[in-house]
Amino acid sequence: MNARGVAAEKVTAEVLQAYAATPDPRLRELLAALITHLHAFATETGLTTAEWMAGLEFLTAVGQKCDPERQEFILLSDTLGLSSLVETINAVAGATEPTVLGPFYRPGAPRREMGEHIGRPEDGPVALIRGRVTDTAGNPVDGATLDVWQGSGNGLYDIQDPQQPDFNLRGVFTTGPDGGFAFRTSRPVSYPVPIDGPVGNIYRATGRHNYRAAHVHVILSGQGYEPVTTHIFDSANEHLGSDAVFGVRDSLISEFRPAAPDDPPDVRYVVDVDFTLAPATG
Ligand SMILES: [Fe+2]
Repeated sequence: MNARGVAAEKVTAEVLQAYAATPDPRLRELLAALITHLHAFATETGLTTAEWMAGLEFLTAVGQKCDPERQEFILLSDTLGLSSLVETINAVAGATEPTVLGPFYRPGAPRREMGEHIGRPEDGPVALIRGRVTDTAGNPVDGATLDVWQGSGNGLYDIQDPQQPDFNLRGVFTTGPDGGFAFRTSRPVSYPVPIDGPVGNIYRATGRHNYRAAHVHVILSGQGYEPVTTHIFDSANEHLGSDAVFGVRDSLISEFRPAAPDDPPDVRYVVDVDFTLAPATG
């Protein structure tokens, strides 16, 4: 190792030592790993002063782009695959696989009746999504909540589109004793993640497309169960293999089958999908 490498190692060791007595053990562990990996990143790449400053300016711009309806940091985390990785690390054995929350979740969606349409006719062809929520032993979960949201046929969520009513394509459904649920929505379409902010520069600089594989978002929860943030993906979608935010899981892909004569007459597609909740881990 040359003299510069020795000096760099000394800086890293000094910084680690400065935080080694952090009282909270988990904070101590996270800080030590963060410092170790950040320093290794700079050392291994030979990070220049100009590149370091460009990185700081980029992160500053990401923060400045955030407002109550635009979370550029979540988009950055999604775009780098960190959100997907964290969901995977925290998946609960036996439960429905989790995937990214995404930047468009809004708490407080209206409670709706089973079978109700969460959107409007103009959002797209109607899909009936139905199934059961069970526990890991296969028993129905009474009182499970599905907090559902998605974008319209124009590729926009309500908070991006002044033409949509507040809380369009959002709804909260609660299962009964049989664990069953059903709701109507429009068949989801692929939509671009926003590239009008600093994260858009990542897509432009790397030549990646910025489309999500078409999906419906669901947060599942229930008293005594670990909540699961997940998606329902459309098996016919062209972007399943190249999702902009790395959210696709094979187990979350469902067929939007054309409605049959004995399906409800207002429905163009039917999706049968079941969910599994695991006991809370404390
Ligand atoms: Fe989405």
